[in-house]
Amino acid sequence: MRNDDRYVEIFNLVKAYPNPFGDEVKVVDGFEIKVPRGDVVSIIGHSGCGKSTVLNMIAGLIPISDGGIVVAGKEIDGPGPDRAVVFQAPCLLPWMTAFENVLLGVKRSYPHASPADRKAMVEASLSMVGLSDSMHKYPRELSGGMQQRVGIARAIALKPRMLLLDEPLGRLDSLTRMELQDVILRILDKEKITTMIITHDPDEAVYMSDRICMMTNGPHAKVGEIMEINFERPRARDEIVETDLFYEYRRRLLAFLDDCEAEKQQHRKKASA
Ligand SMILES: Nc1ncnc2c1ncn2[C@@H]1O[C@H](COP(=O)(O)OP(=O)(O)OP(=O)(O)O)[C@@H](O)[C@H]1O
Ligand SMILES: [Mg+2]
Repeated sequence: MRNDDRYVEIFNLVKAYPNPFGDEVKVVDGFEIKVPRGDVVSIIGHSGCGKSTVLNMIAGLIPISDGGIVVAGKEIDGPGPDRAVVFQAPCLLPWMTAFENVLLGVKRSYPHASPADRKAMVEASLSMVGLSDSMHKYPRELSGGMQQRVGIARAIALKPRMLLLDEPLGRLDSLTRMELQDVILRILDKEKITTMIITHDPDEAVYMSDRICMMTNGPHAKVGEIMEINFERPRARDEIVETDLFYEYRRRLLAFLDDCEAEKQQHRKKASA
C-alpha cells in the first residue's frame, strides 16, 4: 500500500458513554477506515448510529475511548487547524459580515500572516463559494444557502488537510442542495482536500464520494461495508445520475440501510417480548 493510500488512518476507534445506570456503553466500537489523500468519503447510517460521534472524534472535539486516528502521519490529540469542520447550521456571528466571520478563523490559524495576506485568503475562499459580491453582508442579509456557503468558506480558508462535514446541506431545499454539492465538489477537485461527509441522502453520497462508508446500527457501531464509487472526477451531474452504475450504487446503499432497519426492528421485537 502506498503511503498516500492511508493519508487518514483510523484504527479500532471506540467511544463509550455511561448509560443511565452508570455502565459504560460502547456507542462506537471498532470503527476502522483508511482514506487516500484527496479522497471524499461519505458516511451513511441510521440516525443515532454514531456518525457524528466518529466525525467529532476525528475533529478532536470529543476524546476517544480507545483506538487511534492518524492524519498525514500524525496521531490526532485534540482539535487543530489541520482539520476543519462544517456542521448543519453555519453558526455565524450575527454582528459580523461574511468577510469578518471568515477572517476570524484565519486570524486564529495564521496569527503571523500579514493583514493583506489574510484579506487575500478570506476573499479567495469566499469567491470559491460564489460569494464575492456578498462578502460584506451580515448573516441576516443572506439566505440559508448563502449562510452555509460562508460556513464552507470559513472552513476552506484555513487550508485544512482534512475537511469534516456533518450533514452540511441537511437543512437546505433540494435545489440549493444540488447547487452546493457542486460548489463543494469543485473546491475539492481544485484543492484536493481529504474529506469526510456525513449525509442521509443516498444520491448525495454517490454523487459526491470516491467511497461510501456504511455504518452498522449502534450501539457497538462500526463500518459495515465500504463501497468504492468508480466515477472519474471532476464529475458532471447530468453525465452520472442517469447511468446504470449510479442506480446500482444507489440500490446497494439502500439495500444496506434496509437490512439495518430490519435488524433494528427485530431487536426491538426481541426487547419487548
Ligand atoms: N454526550 C453523550 N452522552 C451519552 N450518549 C451520547 C452522547 N453523545 C451521543 N450519545 C449517543 O451516541 C449515539 C450516537 O450519536 P450520534 O450523534 O453520533 O449519532 P448520529 O449517527 O450522528 O445520528 P444522526 O443521524 O441522528 O445525527 C446515540 O445513541 C447518542 O444518544
Ligand atoms: Mg449526527
